[in-house]
Amino acid sequence: MDNFYITTPIYYVNDKPHIGHAYTTLLADVLARYHRLMQTPTFFLTGTDEHGQKVDKAAAERGVDPQAHCDEFVQRFQEAWVKLGISNDSFIRTTEENHKAVVQETLQELFDKDEIYKADYEGWYCTPCEMFVTEKDLVEGNCPNCNREIELIKEAAYYFKMSKYQSWLIDYINDNPEFIQPDFRRNETLGFLNKQDLNDLCISRPKSRLSWGIELPFDSDYVTYVWFDALVNYISGIGYKRDDEQFNKWWPASYHLIGKDILTTHTVYWPTMLKAMGVEQPKTIFAHGWWLIDQNKMSKTDGNVVNPLDLCDQYGVDAFRYYLMAEMSLGQDCNFTEELFIDRYNNDLAGNIGNMLSRVIKMIKPHFDGKIPSPGSEETAEDKDLKEAVLGSVTKMETSIHEMKINRGLEDAVEAIKSCNRYFELTKPWALAKTDTDRLATVLYNAAEALRIVSGLLYPVIPGKMSVLRLSLGLAEDKLEPDFAQLKEWGKLVPGSQTIEMPSLFPRIDTKAKEKEVKKENAKNAKKAENIVELIDIDQFFKAQLKTAKVIEAEAVEGADRLLKLQLEVGDETRQIVAGIAKWYKPEDLVGKTIVIVSNLKAVTLMGVESNGMLLAAKKGKKKLSLITTDDPDFASGASVG
Ligand code: MSP
Repeated sequence: MDNFYITTPIYYVNDKPHIGHAYTTLLADVLARYHRLMQTPTFFLTGTDEHGQKVDKAAAERGVDPQAHCDEFVQRFQEAWVKLGISNDSFIRTTEENHKAVVQETLQELFDKDEIYKADYEGWYCTPCEMFVTEKDLVEGNCPNCNREIELIKEAAYYFKMSKYQSWLIDYINDNPEFIQPDFRRNETLGFLNKQDLNDLCISRPKSRLSWGIELPFDSDYVTYVWFDALVNYISGIGYKRDDEQFNKWWPASYHLIGKDILTTHTVYWPTMLKAMGVEQPKTIFAHGWWLIDQNKMSKTDGNVVNPLDLCDQYGVDAFRYYLMAEMSLGQDCNFTEELFIDRYNNDLAGNIGNMLSRVIKMIKPHFDGKIPSPGSEETAEDKDLKEAVLGSVTKMETSIHEMKINRGLEDAVEAIKSCNRYFELTKPWALAKTDTDRLATVLYNAAEALRIVSGLLYPVIPGKMSVLRLSLGLAEDKLEPDFAQLKEWGKLVPGSQTIEMPSLFPRIDTKAKEKEVKKENAKNAKKAENIVELIDIDQFFKAQLKTAKVIEAEAVEGADRLLKLQLEVGDETRQIVAGIAKWYKPEDLVGKTIVIVSNLKAVTLMGVESNGMLLAAKKGKKKLSLITTDDPDFASGASVG
């Protein structure tokens, strides 16, 4: 089998790793791990995209040099990947000297081959946003981003002759159906290519506008614009132009994993660049869908970005890895919710795998002194069925990996454990314990063997917990990481091995307690919200008319022990107000006082009594209340307050 080389997009260094970045990286990790178990030489590359305006701006705002800024921010990704157990073989940063030099050499070569040329670029440019806007995107002639005026500017720029490869690319995609996956994404790219003439690709920015980039080797007034820099990482990261042996070992890549947002750059720019460079095409560019939150795209402004590290802290890395891999059908969008996360955890991990392990270990302990028993040589129909189901799940997993349907492979593995549960129901080991120790030995051996195999299948997704499971089954330390070939053989577990009883592998998440916690949290937030001061404009404040009013009469409202009915003199006018102040004031104490009211409120009826306004009072929660009053006779009634 060919060597396996897998890549992720390199992430913008300014970003904070979120569930979307985590997903692509995890997917690459899981595929790399499966291939390693299959003894396929594997190389897994991820990294960060560090040049460009945003980085430059962010660094300037913090008053640091852009390189220092990158050196600091890259750690967020590196630390996150360590925490998520990502097994990348290398981490590339586009600010590394080697990468920059390879980009420059590539550019020079293409320039010398006449694949790059200089021409005037004319376009609408928004100076505040620092970007070009195409004519069709203008909003009433203004920038669609900030709505300000934009200018038509003309400047010299460098272009890569992308357009000349259009028909070659269409043919290549048609001839190589595995090149862009899934199929509907291939059609998307073909649709794009068939619909319009491809333009040449502008690959430069003048240094006067963007200095944080790789300088063009043939014109020091320019830097290369993002994609020509970023895409090259896939080859500079494995020795392109430096180490032919290494490069030829890994290239062409087996998979470039990407999100659907960067399909065109990877399936149009990159193949034409490679073609011009005379480099072979990657085997497959695979675009997965989006993780959505409440069916919406995550966005910083909406504040609905899921931080993967929080979930790991709360539920464990393995639970997080399992959820992401099991929940998303590759290629489709997928909605993230914590309830689904907990459901999956409780059903698949706690209820199935964890539970089966604890049943097996708990029975082996008293009846076989904690040692894996020796199975008998006779095989019943139930034994056969179990074996078939479990070994079948190995073949299915292999197919699922090659078809990029990991969620299906995981479903099959969980199904195999369900067969094991059924096997217990049919063979009733708890009854055999009293009647037939030999048969009990076979049943427990088979169940343990099923767990050995399924744990091997799940290992690339949940390596931590599956190591514990395998240790618990008495496997030697050097067998904790499985060998895929051994999962295809029944009977590898060695009788007599000492099993170990461990604390519950996947303790159930108590949803009731969780609900309580959520309620408590909500109440806390509501309280906080109460204290948040909403800022209003002055004219909003002046909409309310505040006046002084003298209490002429006051009495309780029948049937409402909180309410008092007040007759007030407001200048020349008399009006009635109902107020919930009976707990703090007796009617007789109020008569003669001058209070403050909102005089332009619409009338309401409280307990059948009309109220024309509202009085003002200072409050301390629900415990204390004091009316706002004045004792200056000049303001006794009808004076405006503000
Ligand atoms: N730097 C470029 C890529 C250059 S590759 C030569 C870039 N970086 S990014 O930081 O914006 O990361 C984009 C990638 O993150 C997506 O292609 C996808 O792999 C992943 N995701 C970002 N948000 C996502 C979701 N909401 N859901 C799933 N994955 C998404 O673009």
